[in-house]
Amino acid sequence: MVTRVAVASDHAGFELKSLIVEWLGELEGVEAVDLGPADTTRTDYPDWAATLAGALANGAAERGVLVCGTGIGISIAANKHPGVRAALVHDVTTARLCRAHNDANVLCLGQRIVGQAVAREALEAFLGTAFEGGRHADRVAKIHAPERAEG
Ligand code: RB5
Repeated sequence: MVTRVAVASDHAGFELKSLIVEWLGELEGVEAVDLGPADTTRTDYPDWAATLAGALANGAAERGVLVCGTGIGISIAANKHPGVRAALVHDVTTARLCRAHNDANVLCLGQRIVGQAVAREALEAFLGTAFEGGRHADRVAKIHAPERAEG
């Protein structure tokens, strides 16, 4: 089974986003869906978070990766969208644990914060780690309770 991974960034994350698309292309069983942007023209990270959330919601991708300068703004924006569990990750350990414990479906990275070697290892950990379920499953379900309450 191929896992489709949607990727997007703002201008400050464009370089790392482009590398991530390349790296995904080298992984067996993974298809990169490059949502943009196509260059480093100044752009607003919430717009790209919304685009990626749409790709998850409509089934164009099962997972996502978002990049901005720090990873902060784009992760905050992504988590406003129903069904998104975006994790801002700085190392391989948090990349692994956001999958194992939080069932994160979007990896967020800061191009100005994380080196490329760490970003690549974090990406592979994010894609290669399964959700543990068990005691974590109810907690993850509770994350989405506010969305259900809002209707
Ligand atoms: C853009 O300059 C920068 O503010 C943005 O990429 C991000 O770091 C925001 O959190």
